[in-house]
Amino acid sequence: MCGIVGAVAGRQVQNILLEGLKRLEYRGYDSAGMSILAEEGGLSRQRALGKVAELDKKLQQAPLRGRAGIAHTRWATHGRPSEENAHPHQSGDRLAVVHNGIIENFESLRRELEGQGYTFLSETDTEVVAHLLAREYEQSRDLLQALQRAVARLEGAYALAVAHAAQPDRIVGARKGSPLIVGVGIEEAFLASDPLALLQVTDRFVYLREGDVVQLSDGGVIEVFDDAGQPIERGIEVFEHGDNAISRGNYRHFMLKEIHEQAAVIAKTLEGRLGDGHVMTHIFGSGSGSLMTDVRHIQIVACGTSYHAGMVARYWIEKLAGIPTQVEVASEYRYRDGVVPDNTLFVTLSQSGETADTLAALRHAQSHGGYLASLAICNVPGSSMVRESDLSLMTHAGPEIGVASTKAFTTQLVSLLLLTLALRYARNGDDEMQARLVGALRQLPQLINQGLALDGDIERLSSAFAEKHHALFLGRGTMFPIALEGALKLKEISYIHAEAYPAGELKHGPLALVDSDMPVIAVAPNDELVEKLKSNLQEVRARGGELFVFAEENVAISEGDGVHVLRLPAVDEVIAPLLFTLPLQLLSYHVAVLKGTDVDQPRNLAKSVTVE
Ligand code: AGP
Repeated sequence: MCGIVGAVAGRQVQNILLEGLKRLEYRGYDSAGMSILAEEGGLSRQRALGKVAELDKKLQQAPLRGRAGIAHTRWATHGRPSEENAHPHQSGDRLAVVHNGIIENFESLRRELEGQGYTFLSETDTEVVAHLLAREYEQSRDLLQALQRAVARLEGAYALAVAHAAQPDRIVGARKGSPLIVGVGIEEAFLASDPLALLQVTDRFVYLREGDVVQLSDGGVIEVFDDAGQPIERGIEVFEHGDNAISRGNYRHFMLKEIHEQAAVIAKTLEGRLGDGHVMTHIFGSGSGSLMTDVRHIQIVACGTSYHAGMVARYWIEKLAGIPTQVEVASEYRYRDGVVPDNTLFVTLSQSGETADTLAALRHAQSHGGYLASLAICNVPGSSMVRESDLSLMTHAGPEIGVASTKAFTTQLVSLLLLTLALRYARNGDDEMQARLVGALRQLPQLINQGLALDGDIERLSSAFAEKHHALFLGRGTMFPIALEGALKLKEISYIHAEAYPAGELKHGPLALVDSDMPVIAVAPNDELVEKLKSNLQEVRARGGELFVFAEENVAISEGDGVHVLRLPAVDEVIAPLLFTLPLQLLSYHVAVLKGTDVDQPRNLAKSVTVE
């Protein structure tokens, strides 16, 4: 999960590539590099350890001049972050390659190439691609052919961009298992891992398919070849979100901006999808209306935050639509030979639509058969998951840049509630409960803004956490996955060890951890489990644990010694997971700011995990 940019333009490309890298930094940020084909011949390269800003500094000292080039921002898989391991990797001084993905057979290829006299200078899997390409180029003297022959030897996942000094008017690229798109300019063309990288130069894109190889040459000529090596037309799509979506505006961090965008993006998620007292059943794609009636089981597969959204959906679907539902993390599901009951709908949840484990789980499900249909609930139109699924529902959160997922999560929850209600409608037709929930969904953006108004109070509360090393999150029912999500947020951006438990499970072990150094955060909507939750909180207090309770306004829990209570507005219990997510997002944000961590790009992580 690195970021790739490439360009062949009628102007100097260094700054286009650099801007592209800055916009792709969410994909990895431990080192960066760029190679440019000099107009007078030759290939020049600059690499730096650390974020793109470090590369920028070096380029200011020694600019790279030329009208074609490739660049990369890295998230280390093979080999520690260092300048030697940073991309582009070269074979000799005339061929350079950047790569996102993992070459699984790199060890055998490396032995083969070393045996033929190629010298390796890095610990990466990518360097084998550079030498493989150089060897093929020696045969054909044509970069495109060399790439087509080289990728045939690769096992694993790759998005590649390649430049050769002997062909200074072009770059070539290929994708399999990792994303790569072509930006279409006026007499110029670009490559990138994501359209966001190129919005400063174009809003028109070609989404390459699995196995595609592409050549971009002078004058904006774009030639795409399929996995059989045949020329193929791929349509151009216009990116509709606009470039504003990726600026921080007046916010200090993208994460804070994205938290505060939630009311607006939830309104977009709902737009055109609510009918009169029910959800429209055809919103998942053609034929989905009748398909909803046939569904008897649901299998949800996802990773991280998206997995937590799936866990909430399980409570909703079983309760409101009466359909047995299973939820599993994709990295486990993909290697399991599970039993698929008849008429199972296979649902993937993903912000990016490119997460390697989730995509592999989808392919595993498709190749093993037995599923009625696959549905991708996703934030990125045109992503691999959307293209490879039978049905899809876009979450419409807009680009999410902060590594910690916030608005993508709440729009996934809204989409999953739409799915739940569509399934219920397909079974029951109109009913009072649906009409009530459709009404509640219409009010949701307003309710979200009320929840976000707690920002100042939560900021004040956050100082109680900044010096702590551990935290425990508790919830029951749909609030258990919300507690898990709160703990994940705190872990990933403030580096505080946090765990979440269903509150009823506390007495079976984790209570042993509770003392005055262990803050315990609880989410308490006014639902059927609230009295049981209150008893669990007594158990914590009796052991000296300090309690931080986010409670609905009508829940009888009082402030007192060691008990801090923040009130949220009254809410329908089905909608409550959406509202109670907000204070946990804000808490983790303010704690991270107090600790001075890199909120938008926390250590060791990347936004889009396109490697296994
Ligand atoms: C969330 O804050 C994460 N950074 C991470 O868990 C993320 O949700 C996970 O990697 C799945 O990504 P996806 O939704 O793009 O598939």
